[in-house]
Amino acid sequence: MKTLVIGSGGREHALALALSRDPSVSEVHAAPGNPGIAECATLHDVDQMDGSAVADLAESLGADLVVIGPEAPLVAGVADDVRARGISCFGPSRLAAELEGSKAFAKDVMAVAGVPTAMAHVCSTATEIDAALDAFGPPYVVKDDGLAAGKGVVVTHDRAEAAAHAAQCERVVIEEYLDGPEVSLFAITDGSTVYPLQPAQDFKRIFDGDQGANTGGMGAYTPLPWAPEGLVAEVQERVLQPTVDEMARRGSLFAGLLYAGLALTSRGTRVVEFNARFGDPETQALMALLDSPLASLLKAAADGELDQVAPPRWKDGAAVAVVMASAGYPESSSKGDVIVGTETLAEEDDVDVIHAGTALRDRSLVTAGGRVLAVTAVGRDVADARAKAYEGISSVSFEGAQWRTDIAASVAKESLT
Ligand code: AMP
Ligand code: GLY
Repeated sequence: MKTLVIGSGGREHALALALSRDPSVSEVHAAPGNPGIAECATLHDVDQMDGSAVADLAESLGADLVVIGPEAPLVAGVADDVRARGISCFGPSRLAAELEGSKAFAKDVMAVAGVPTAMAHVCSTATEIDAALDAFGPPYVVKDDGLAAGKGVVVTHDRAEAAAHAAQCERVVIEEYLDGPEVSLFAITDGSTVYPLQPAQDFKRIFDGDQGANTGGMGAYTPLPWAPEGLVAEVQERVLQPTVDEMARRGSLFAGLLYAGLALTSRGTRVVEFNARFGDPETQALMALLDSPLASLLKAAADGELDQVAPPRWKDGAAVAVVMASAGYPESSSKGDVIVGTETLAEEDDVDVIHAGTALRDRSLVTAGGRVLAVTAVGRDVADARAKAYEGISSVSFEGAQWRTDIAASVAKESLT
């Protein structure tokens, strides 16, 4: 099978690597890719937002499967352009990607499908905003309706800050605060059959102890030894299947990766958000533990034949991914800082360096974005995987590097006792 991965981040590197390790895959191509992806795929210089250029590339390569990684091309309808050429494409249509592209749309789907989520008001005027903030009280949760690369949400006790963020958004969703730990549960679906993946958790804040600004994600691990038994079955039955069925009922079949961001609150499991693509960096950890060949799962989902292949299987043990970000992230990022030490990790069996914002300059690897790379490790349990990931981190360096030291720490402690 010839495969083409669209995107240039850590998620796309993890997917390309998993495809390259699938014996049924003869070629992995990527566009635009990054220097890490170049080690397991052939790169093509194509704008990921240009649907006809992506479809042209897929056609010229004779690709059997195109996998679209990021939300922006999905929301722009790039998957539709690829499918219009008769090429299998893993990723929802423009209409279906609205589950991520518009929080108000997602709330509507959940309401109709009876999916448990935070109560919310969709507001466009200052009067509506004031009324909604008063109705819910602190802590205030204020979300920009549209795509904002993980930075559109403000959670605060400060009413003025909440009101100021709301005022900046054209349309804003103000909702009830959800307490309790968060879980990322992904599912591969063809629009009818739903195969959940193993639960994972990511760490969204920039600093240890969940302090500081929200980021795209600073680390992740899977599985979650503390997750209640039956969680996956419950979410499948109450969240994933009803959502996929409701999308089909509306005539916008959701085929691709449905990402349920969940809060396990004192009053039960609630959806915090949906995304229409693999999460980053949870995917780095999940792909490291996936035992099934990835290409056949994604191809079957793209072709509406997911029930013809077996559900995903997982290796024993655990995987941990720790992100290294560049100076200034998440407010800004630093480009051109020379990265050293990644070569030494290439020899390690259980450890991968997954590139996100990297570039080559005069044959040196340099930073080229906010999240630069993730060190992903597999171990016999979370503690073991975590130790290997941090050992990896300690051998990589660049000017101004920032990483959290507490990814999966509390869980690792528990697994030792
Ligand atoms: P979102 O973009 O919707 O995933 O929100 C980003 C982050 O903000 C989530 O991962 C949560 O940590 C936090 N968040 C979003 N909605 C809520 C909520 N209703 N209650 C508490 N925290 C939330
Ligand atoms: N891990 C958060 C995200 O991918 O949105």
